Amino acid sequence: MPVTIKSSHEIELMRVSCRNLAVLHEELAKMIRPGISTLEIDREAARIIKSFGCVSSFLNYNGYPGHLCVSVNEEVVHGIPKAERILREGDIVSLDAGMIYRGYHSDAARTWAVGSVDEDCLKLMAAAEECFRRGILKARAGLHLHDISEAINACADEHGYGVVHELCGHGIGRELHEPPQIPNNRQKTRGILLRPGMTLAIEPMITMGSREVRWMPDKWTVVTKDGKPAAHYENTVLITEGEPEILTVRQVR
Ligand code: MF3
Ligand code: CO
Repeated sequence: MPVTIKSSHEIELMRVSCRNLAVLHEELAKMIRPGISTLEIDREAARIIKSFGCVSSFLNYNGYPGHLCVSVNEEVVHGIPKAERILREGDIVSLDAGMIYRGYHSDAARTWAVGSVDEDCLKLMAAAEECFRRGILKARAGLHLHDISEAINACADEHGYGVVHELCGHGIGRELHEPPQIPNNRQKTRGILLRPGMTLAIEPMITMGSREVRWMPDKWTVVTKDGKPAAHYENTVLITEGEPEILTVRQVR
């Protein structure tokens, strides 16, 4: 499957899907507090997604059992919501969600603090967002895909953080995961030429310690090998003739 260029009609549908997702994240952020279970977050996500007339992009994706992914501390991504997983003061929690609106997917992740958290975790969370910002500076027509990867990796390096190699960003549209894959670590090649109408999910996963990860026995949850915390920050972005547009915001410019 080649990299798709979205028509203006398709982009309008993606805007709706992505705007809804931004609202979902804002609503879920309000729930984050010590004592809540990750399954309660899933239930609320399910309710809100349904209220938009949308369907979760993740539920049943390769058999994934949740409406979103909830990953705590050393869990990098793909944490499965559970009644017995209770958030505690000082945790950091990554919420990764996506929904389908009239056939078009959206995908975004945020990492939140549970109550008051250590300064070093706050720095890690800010760095994940900064890596994303540095990445989209290169998400411009005429530049190449791996310029994004280079910018993300350079930002993580500057902070002394690890960047996960095993998982990538991706194209998005009628499928949750479309070509191209978007590595977060620098590559030896330039990658494809970026063109207006491409829609990309750019999602740095940043670790406080070693970048090495492993999969838990549930076959989903990705954790750091050293048990140190990780942060994830993701938006769906549109490549334009000029400035890249972050679609997963409440108000699109
Ligand atoms: N949100 C993930 C991504 O960014 C996909 C989650 S896969 C799932 O690509 F199965 F866990 F939903
Ligand atoms: Co994604």
